[in-house]
Amino acid sequence: VLFLLAAMSAHAVEIVAHRGFSARAPENTLGAFELAWKNGTDACELDVYLTADGKTAVIHDKDTKRTTGVKLDVATTKQAELTALDAGTWKGKEWASEKIPTLEQALATMPKGKQRFFIEVKCGAEIVPELKRILEPMKDRAAQLAIIAFKRDAAAESKKAMPWVKVYRLASGKTKEKKPTDLTQLIADTKADKLDGLDLGVADFPWDAAMVKQIRDAGFGLYVWTVNKPADVKRFAALGVDGITTDDPVMVREALGEP
Ligand code: G3P
Ligand code: CA
Repeated sequence: VLFLLAAMSAHAVEIVAHRGFSARAPENTLGAFELAWKNGTDACELDVYLTADGKTAVIHDKDTKRTTGVKLDVATTKQAELTALDAGTWKGKEWASEKIPTLEQALATMPKGKQRFFIEVKCGAEIVPELKRILEPMKDRAAQLAIIAFKRDAAAESKKAMPWVKVYRLASGKTKEKKPTDLTQLIADTKADKLDGLDLGVADFPWDAAMVKQIRDAGFGLYVWTVNKPADVKRFAALGVDGITTDDPVMVREALGEP
């Protein structure tokens, strides 16, 4: 098992830079992804929407207000209008040239190697044909790609359209109605959708050995988000997760005591 893990990433636990190196750079920008790769992350995570003209925009929020100062609704705005905005200055003047990237631009930052991108579908399954068009030419680098989504149909349709890509279902420990997430049901749904595993929020789940065993017994991969404290890195590494999503990949590397 150790050999297998070592073959998949440079670290025993895969380090996933959340929205790029978002602790130091403006999230979901080329600068944030490049800084993460430069600092030895195993993977980067990004968020993607379909724009009004059927293209892609890499941004976390539904609108552009928080990261650009200008409020445009991503899904009803054309890609070129989104690209014209300054997505860097909010994090510091030195980032003023950063834009809202397209998915293709973000993927192009990824080194040819063992690193990979976790592509989070923030909209619905309507993005799947465009996602497939973009990812299909990278089929020979399938191991460098993963798709993640909270919405069941977005995850299931992605897997159906691209069975050669790993797809993980995202979930937090509480439902929208503030009830605890039913892990047994989530595992059953994930199996029925033929997905590769789960990517879970660290808050609100019980996070004990029994929980991890239940997920492993289903044959699933297991990733967690978002871990920003060294003590939590050690805790989740000890629980045996496959990967840790973090705003600060350097902190995780140091907490794991790895080069
Ligand atoms: O890696 C999953 C995580 O990014 C989900 O939460 O809100 O940061 O997209 P959010
Ligand atoms: Ca995300």
